[in-house]
Amino acid sequence: MMVASPVITIDGPSGSGKGTLSKALASQLNWSILDSGAMYRALALVALQQKIIFSNENQLANLAARLDIRFMVNLNKSSILLYGKEIQKDISSESIGDLASSIAIFPKVREVLLYRQRLFQLPPGLIADGRDMGTVVFPKAILKFFLDASYEERVKRRTLQLQKKGFNVNLNKLLENMKKRDDRDSNRVMSPLIPAVDALVFNSTGLSTGELKSMFLMHIRRVLIL
Ligand code: DC
Repeated sequence: MMVASPVITIDGPSGSGKGTLSKALASQLNWSILDSGAMYRALALVALQQKIIFSNENQLANLAARLDIRFMVNLNKSSILLYGKEIQKDISSESIGDLASSIAIFPKVREVLLYRQRLFQLPPGLIADGRDMGTVVFPKAILKFFLDASYEERVKRRTLQLQKKGFNVNLNKLLENMKKRDDRDSNRVMSPLIPAVDALVFNSTGLSTGELKSMFLMHIRRVLIL
């Protein structure tokens, strides 16, 4: 009998710290990583480049089926390769995040990406980061986390991330965009942003990545019997 390799899911809104934490955990465990938000962002980027109309669900789904995206992570470096080219900076802006959230409402796009996301479940294990990883994509994950934080903290984290990548940040605009995106992601019909019923829910406000990592590792060790 084939035993599926383990998946740990980390869902939550942007700025909750899940991305940084996912990378830290994947690196520590030597597992691979799936940044599902980056898939929606990469799709938005390619749709922009190919001048696809953002309401054309079929064309977006076709594009999603051909998206060649890979994630790499090790101790101090991570990269996201689209057709072999590093795109981390190109997909980091808030405007791409907003477009990604708009196309994420389309059932056909989600269906294609769901299939593609499951292909990342390979040995020795996978850390999957997103909005619906624990609820829809990997319902049988061995451990599910849901991470949230106060708006203040989330804006602070996003600001630092954006500034590090060289973007100018308007705090009011960022907060407005974050609320709009949360609202859209949480209220869409298909796969909304909600914790899975069996998820461990944490609030990361005031906690460093190191503190979160230790907390999460405690639960991971319990489940993996490390
Ligand atoms: O995590 P992120 O900010 O990179 O995600 C960008 C958008 O992609 C997010 O606002 C909604 C969408 N998304 C989604 O619908 N489902 C996921 N599993 C991940 C992201």
